[in-house]
Amino acid sequence: MSTTAELTQQIAAAGEEAASAIAGAESMEQLEQVRIRFLGKEGVITKFMKQLGAVPKEEKPAFGAVVNAAKKSTEAAIEEKKAALAASGKVQVAGGIDVTMPGIRNGVGRRHPIQQALEQVKSILIGMGFRYDDYPEYEEEYYNFDSLNTPDWHPSRDSHDSFYTKDGHVLRTHTTAFQIRCMKMLGSKPPIRAMTAGRCYRRDEIDATHYPIFNQIDVICIDRNVSFADLKSTLYSLLTALLGDDIKLRFRPSYFPFTTPSAEVDVLWRGRWMELLGAGMMRPEVLRNGGIDPDEYQGFAFGMGLDRLAMRRFAIDDIRHLYENEEQFLSQF
Ligand code: DAH
Repeated sequence: MSTTAELTQQIAAAGEEAASAIAGAESMEQLEQVRIRFLGKEGVITKFMKQLGAVPKEEKPAFGAVVNAAKKSTEAAIEEKKAALAASGKVQVAGGIDVTMPGIRNGVGRRHPIQQALEQVKSILIGMGFRYDDYPEYEEEYYNFDSLNTPDWHPSRDSHDSFYTKDGHVLRTHTTAFQIRCMKMLGSKPPIRAMTAGRCYRRDEIDATHYPIFNQIDVICIDRNVSFADLKSTLYSLLTALLGDDIKLRFRPSYFPFTTPSAEVDVLWRGRWMELLGAGMMRPEVLRNGGIDPDEYQGFAFGMGLDRLAMRRFAIDDIRHLYENEEQFLSQF
């Protein structure tokens, strides 16, 4: 039978042995083996606990404390190691990592197709003198609708189309919501050439061409003597730079609450007309809401979906691909 002093020394040694075994464990399985070896029913440290009965009464508290400390610190070290193993994710490789193996090339990040489409449109427009700013996605109903001459009977205000929250805010349903904010931000002082882009939200059923999130770009140009001809020439410059010199555009009369006259613009693409954007002359009410005198200034505006542009450019046939962030899909662009 060992003396208490000897036992105490053995416990300390066992604790150290456990610590180095834990440090050396390279997988959850190995770590579990270590735990069983030291803390299992027949474990090294557990066995010392069982010897407590044989220790003289007056030495019991000191001895118990030493065993307990060894047990506690071993348990703590195991937990810590578990977390480290879980975090590294590489440690399940049997036998550890062979550092002499050739390296694995890290995946190179790529820009998302929508981001690529956006950057292209944006840089063309910046080249034409437009400024870019970001605006809120979580927007006041006023900026998304009311200020844009969208009366509350308008179908786009139907709660089925919009994500409303309780306090007079919506997730913006179009980037057109930036117009009044932009005019005010720039001190309501034309000339103003400005754009924004980003996520918009509508309560659409998901299918190959609809998703409750989509991306738009919106543009305004306000100055003296701005006419529909300026809108047309701007669109021709933008769209030929984007799609090539030989494109054909079609302007269809249309309706938007915030423009008059309004048009939808289609592009002839592989023998078919594709709807590309909405455009028009800014209504006097809208200019006035932005603090600009419509008798002195006019403005044109247009808004375009970026998703469709990206889809056409990269021959993507399902909008869901753009939002599911699958690496295999995204790494193709
Ligand atoms: N906001 C419209 C939409 O969501 C698109 C649009 C039409 C934007 C005409 C404009 C515009 O700026 O002038 O479909």
